[in-house]
Amino acid sequence: MSKKRVAVVGYGTIGERISDGIVLQDDLELAGVADISPTLPVRALVESGKDYPIYCSIPEKRKDLENAGIPVKGLLDDLLEEVDIVVDATTPGIGAKNKEVYKKFALPAIFQAGEKRGFADAIFSPYFNYQKCRELKYLQMFSCNTTGIARQAYICDSGFGLKEMICLIVRRAADISETHKGPVDALLPQEIPSHQAEDFIHVAPHIHTITGVITAPVCHGHATMMIFEVGKKTSKEEIVEVFNKEPRIRLFRLQDGFISTSHIFDYNRDRMSPRGDMYEVPVWEETIYLDREGQRIYSINMIPQEAIVVPENIDAIRCLLGLEDTPEEAMEHTNRCLGLK
Ligand SMILES: NC(=O)c1ccc[n+]([C@@H]2O[C@H](COP(=O)([O-])OP(=O)(O)OC[C@H]3O[C@@H](n4cnc5c(N)ncnc54)[C@H](O)[C@@H]3O)[C@@H](O)[C@H]2O)c1
Repeated sequence: MSKKRVAVVGYGTIGERISDGIVLQDDLELAGVADISPTLPVRALVESGKDYPIYCSIPEKRKDLENAGIPVKGLLDDLLEEVDIVVDATTPGIGAKNKEVYKKFALPAIFQAGEKRGFADAIFSPYFNYQKCRELKYLQMFSCNTTGIARQAYICDSGFGLKEMICLIVRRAADISETHKGPVDALLPQEIPSHQAEDFIHVAPHIHTITGVITAPVCHGHATMMIFEVGKKTSKEEIVEVFNKEPRIRLFRLQDGFISTSHIFDYNRDRMSPRGDMYEVPVWEETIYLDREGQRIYSINMIPQEAIVVPENIDAIRCLLGLEDTPEEAMEHTNRCLGLK
């Protein structure tokens, strides 16, 4: 079977990581990436020697790219003519407008969490609504936090019947290059419930979910305290076992030296993970605690905000293109190609 061709529109923090993830898939080909200016990720792409064809989304902006020495292969329309699907990772608000362009080319498309809710056909989670989404054309992804929440919720729900979930999120204030959002020296509470609960309930209305957010002055990763109320009695050993079995969750131990989000980030850089990224949700093993006779589970996890959405974006491509019939097959395929064990 020939590889399906994918366009990534918006080559920023998320677009560059999704592009790299697509290149690792054995049934997908990155046909090209599109942006509108010679941003640092676009300049770094050229300097890295990766041969991703670069397109310009806005004809008048082409000169800006070329003047900065960026080789521009063509305009967005040229790219869209030769692909099977688009992943849009543009600045929030642009994706919803781009949907009309993708429609003109009859292309299915995937949009990120920063877009307004309701303009896509559904919010997608491979764990909860893969089959329903196979019939659709435009999917919106979860945010990084909701992606991590959904992975853990699914394990608790499928294994022990998740009745209720409370997530207390300490949210990073900005990505590393978003200096316009700082410097900051404060903790910012948000209205409860935060958007993560609303998005999650969209895919799993049977789980009573509340999320709250406090924004903290850090750049590398969010941290979340999770409280799961389950219907079936379980134990810490069993939770450790099921979390260990899920390739998109990784247990770390405080006693091994992983004492903060920064230590995990640094570890990722030392093990030569590109950009210090990780696709998994790190959960600290010592934070897993049970009470209410094994029916309430507590844990604390990190959310590496940038790369965590990559696996689910790739699952969404498989879903919309009908490349795998079941969510299990789609996730197994994505995990295998991304090296998630
Ligand atoms: N940064 C994160 O941690 C994170 C995590 C999860 C989801 N998201 C979501 O991902 C989306 C992208 O966020 P980001 O952090 O990558 O933003 P970003 O600013 O790093 O990247 C956006 C890119 O889109 C480009 N762009 C703008 N208009 C365009 C157009 N018309 N055509 C092509 N490119 C265009 C910009 O030049 C920029 O390079 C947002 O919806 C955001 O909410 C971000």
